[in-house]
Amino acid sequence: MKDLLKLKTSLLEEIENILNAQVKIEAHASALYLAMSSWCDDQGLDNASNFFAKQADEEREHMLKLFNYINDRGGRAVSPEITNIPVDFESFRGVFEQTLEQEMFVTEQFNNIADKCMKLKDYVTFNFLQWFLAEQVEEEYVARRILELFDVIGEEGTGRWEIDKHLVKVAYSAE
Ligand code: FEO
Repeated sequence: MKDLLKLKTSLLEEIENILNAQVKIEAHASALYLAMSSWCDDQGLDNASNFFAKQADEEREHMLKLFNYINDRGGRAVSPEITNIPVDFESFRGVFEQTLEQEMFVTEQFNNIADKCMKLKDYVTFNFLQWFLAEQVEEEYVARRILELFDVIGEEGTGRWEIDKHLVKVAYSAE
């Protein structure tokens, strides 16, 4: 008789672990963006606040996509513990610099997962990852475009207000 555990899941333990690690990264990103949303709201930057609230929702969706995939394949998705979410941020520009860094980190992580899938010949998970890899192109693009607003407009005088106004167009042009 076949090993029952092997029949229960077709996910390799190594793949399950790396996907659960990504669940945690996405949950952390969601909480971080929610903190940024609150900080921007406090600064009177309403559009940026809405932008980050939406980003927080999207990251939770990413987390759930991974979470459900692990369970659907017979693995065990782990609800992650999230700690060390900041309350304060140094500057308006700083939150977008941190956003770009965060997204570049996530892209690197998905590349690593894809690499592992190829090495372990898990083409099913490799195929599942394609959506995330494409999504990262958009996420990085938006963060870079918004940072350009800081270079072009500058934060002096009414600059912050102008940047907050224009970032709506940039954020939704990529959708
Ligand atoms: Fe889910 Fe923004 O990466």
